[in-house]
Amino acid sequence: MVPPQEAASAAAAAPLPVLPRGGVSARLDISPLLKDPVAFRALIDLLEDHLRASFPHIDFIAGLDSRGFLIGPPLAQRLGIGFVPIRKKGKLPGPTESASYTLEYGKAELEIQSDAVEPGQKVVIVDDLLATGGTMRAACELVKRLKAEILECLVIIELKLLKGVEKLESVPFYSLLQYD
Ligand code: PRP
Ligand code: MG
Repeated sequence: MVPPQEAASAAAAAPLPVLPRGGVSARLDISPLLKDPVAFRALIDLLEDHLRASFPHIDFIAGLDSRGFLIGPPLAQRLGIGFVPIRKKGKLPGPTESASYTLEYGKAELEIQSDAVEPGQKVVIVDDLLATGGTMRAACELVKRLKAEILECLVIIELKLLKGVEKLESVPFYSLLQYD
């Protein structure tokens, strides 16, 4: 059997990690990883192992609309905990908190339901990719506003050249795969 890290890495990297949208706006495609059940399972195994080894207790996995929804719910199920969606503007029934972030062409907003987490609850925020870090930073702002504790921001892929991690300031961060 292919070792899990190798399977996840190969599936995420094939056929090419960067879609041809060019420059700093390029996004990575996790479709090959999702399409391969062995690699997808290996991915969830790795993330589960990482979180179990890192934190004795997690209350919720929060996932970012939309690709974070592909990773967060299976991971939360493995850990036996709940999943909280952080959605793009206008999708969640209120009351909600919202935070804006900068995109390549303009701005966007993320929202969380105001009662999604209680003050002091321990949350891991999950997404597929950290590029400029703007999306994850906005998600952190929302969770902090609800006074929950962010244990970690976790992504599959980090584009290190964009230094998105600097936007997260003191929030702990973990990426499974890194590309320069
Ligand atoms: C992509 C990706 C991350 C974000 C990373 O989402 O899924 O959420 O960009 O970029 P950043 O670090 O520069 O903020 P996108 O906004 O394209 O939407 P999607 O998840 O709905 O495809
Ligand atoms: Mg996204």
